[in-house]
Amino acid sequence: RTIESLGSLRSRTVIVRCDLNVPLTDGVITDDGRIRASLTTIRELRAAGARVVLISHLGRPKGAPEARYSLRPVAVRMGELLGAPVGFVEETVGAEASAAVGALGEGDVVLLENLRFNPGETSADEQDRRAFAERLAALGDAFVSDGFGVVHRRQASVTELAQLLPSAAGRLVAAELEVLQRLTERPERPYTVVLGGSKVSDKLGVISHLIERVDTLLIGGGMLFTFLAAQGHGVASSLLEADQLDTVRGYLADAEKRGVRIVLPIDVVVAEAFAADADHAVVPADAIESSRFGAAGIGLDIGPASAQAFAEVIAESSTVFWNGPMGVFEMDAFANGTRTLAQALTETDGFTVVGGGDSAAAVRALGFDDDQFGHISTGGGASLEFLEGKQLPGLEVLA
Ligand code: 3PG
Repeated sequence: RTIESLGSLRSRTVIVRCDLNVPLTDGVITDDGRIRASLTTIRELRAAGARVVLISHLGRPKGAPEARYSLRPVAVRMGELLGAPVGFVEETVGAEASAAVGALGEGDVVLLENLRFNPGETSADEQDRRAFAERLAALGDAFVSDGFGVVHRRQASVTELAQLLPSAAGRLVAAELEVLQRLTERPERPYTVVLGGSKVSDKLGVISHLIERVDTLLIGGGMLFTFLAAQGHGVASSLLEADQLDTVRGYLADAEKRGVRIVLPIDVVVAEAFAADADHAVVPADAIESSRFGAAGIGLDIGPASAQAFAEVIAESSTVFWNGPMGVFEMDAFANGTRTLAQALTETDGFTVVGGGDSAAAVRALGFDDDQFGHISTGGGASLEFLEGKQLPGLEVLA
């Protein structure tokens, strides 16, 4: 259901669930991509004369207020980007929130405090979620679900709230779905997926699903060491999920049977320690233990030959989906793999999608612009679960 299905919104109070879960360092927003991505829906609702109540989570507080997870800095940034004041209320539900919402005029916008300061938001008990959602629903007349990054979560503001008010998907959710459906239903081939990030175990579902659908899978980031170990190579002190070795061996065998290429790095950057100024060297991927750092060596990036080989695969691809950095891109010495990969995505003629908060933040931090990519998804877990073919609770309730 799209926003049109809600009818005239003039003077109606519309609650909008956004994903304003942005990275913060000492209270300063380091990447405002998710705030920007929320603006289309908010602008449209203001223009339609709605009274707009924004709700979101930030981080993972445990059901009680914590100053470092306050959404206040987000309200300030949202106001700057919107070019209009965005009020902020220090609670999500309660007398103060009701008064602030009651005082809104047509086109006014207010942001309520972090949903996850309330235990009902993320409770495993449906009754608790429902009770919290009822208090949220009492604040508005209609609900717009636009937090694509949380549609894979069964949480009060995502699922139960949508059942209590006339509800619709916002423009961001609609736009994300259109792009991701293109990948699941009719990807132009060759279709390449690049997976990075630290944990194989986070991506097990999506890897097994992708092996049935893609032509090539490029593996980088911390998870590559579990793949190298599964092939029998030593990885010294690099990240290793020893309990995943059999699963990974199974993937490698399955991919071979299906004719899917799984490309692993041929060289890696090994460092003496996990530190920005650590001594480091490029070594062949099958000789990590023979580096001059011996058993202490830690792989922190894919090597230049691998980055080049990955870039060549991308240049030949018609569709590319990328999730997860190739190395510790926050440290300059270990950013080359991620930078080379991002550059390759900007240069290919194929359709490119960057999925996930970390990958989006990585490309922006390395100086790339959003419009150099086909699409930058605001959802990390959500986009992976969608590609995995899972039913996402926050979308099911809107169907
Ligand atoms: C994300 O950052 O992927 C979303 O905001 C969801 O956050 P969560 O993983 O804490 O539910």
